Amino acid sequence: MTLRSIIRGVGSYLPARIVSNAELAARVDTSDAWIMERTGIRQRHIAADGEKTSDLAIAAAKAALASAGVDGADIDLVVVATATPDQTFPATAAKVQAALCRPGIPAFDIQAVCSGFVYGLATVDNFIRAGQTKNALLIGAETFSRILDWSDRTTCVLFGDGAGAVVVSAGQGSTGQDRGILSTHLHSDGRHHDMLYVDGGPSSTQTTGHLRMKGREVFRHAVVNLADTVKEALAANQLTIADVDWLVPHQANRRILDSTADKLGLDPAKVIVTVDGHANTSAASIPLALDVAVKDGRIKQGNLVLLEAMGGGFTWGSALVRM
Ligand code: ACO
Repeated sequence: MTLRSIIRGVGSYLPARIVSNAELAARVDTSDAWIMERTGIRQRHIAADGEKTSDLAIAAAKAALASAGVDGADIDLVVVATATPDQTFPATAAKVQAALCRPGIPAFDIQAVCSGFVYGLATVDNFIRAGQTKNALLIGAETFSRILDWSDRTTCVLFGDGAGAVVVSAGQGSTGQDRGILSTHLHSDGRHHDMLYVDGGPSSTQTTGHLRMKGREVFRHAVVNLADTVKEALAANQLTIADVDWLVPHQANRRILDSTADKLGLDPAKVIVTVDGHANTSAASIPLALDVAVKDGRIKQGNLVLLEAMGGGFTWGSALVRM
């Protein structure tokens, strides 16, 4: 038996305000039919004025702690994956620590945009397997509404706000049948910076900036990179796609989900899809989808779950988890 990182609880939070495609069509030259056909997105949640990424993160974290039956005082590592922190510094994770956990524990943010949750899972897994952490709180939280150019119809229809969280605890395991994170796989290729980026930042423009994207190129790379990282996760564990109970992908858009499943030969019924109701919530999308599928009873203890994501950078990666 060796140290294993076990996902013990999951929770999420969505802002109350729902913005429909029809509401967006009143602001920019778009339509419900175009958005549905090209992306599968029906609506998105948007944070209220003054509602910050840390507020979303704390609400999701509370739900994850309750689901795990773990007290905030027993958490010894807080990691927040976000590309939309409250401020440039301090880390949003420090606000979560102050709200819910003991003073003195490590807390930091991870910035890998839409891949942030998978990067975060790899990070907390390594802390746990190194024997440095017993109970980690990992949160993906975003308010992309704050960095959208609301006059650009090619991007503003795609994203939403939200947060999802997991409690990951140290346990024991030796085989693929034992609970826990079986492997994680991370990648980046900064040559593709200009395909998906924010045109501002503290050291370049001293402004927050807006999201810019070459949608077609992102789509093309996403399908290839996501299928490749799923295959490497399966190969690393001597498994095939038929062994996977559920794929919980980053929810970018319906066509990426369908094309990736098709490329992998995966039954579409095994793909957890929330992009219709949440849109793309970047680092929050995987834990949000995980929470939906755990709560509605599809994902059960013992299931083999494959997570995958790709985002700006480019960054991409996967994780294979026995729930
Ligand atoms: N409403 C109506 N028309 C639109 C809209 C809109 N919201 N947006 C673009 N169009 C128009 C374009 O202007 C263009 O018009 P034209 O032919 O007169 O020039 C036409 O629709 C086709 O535009 P394309 O960009 O070629 O449309 P495409 O079929 O590629 O769909 C989309 C665009 C949905 C962005 C697609 O490229 C895509 O899904 N890309 C992936 C991007 C993504 O998911 N990014 C998320 C971040 S990365 C990640 O999470 C993996």
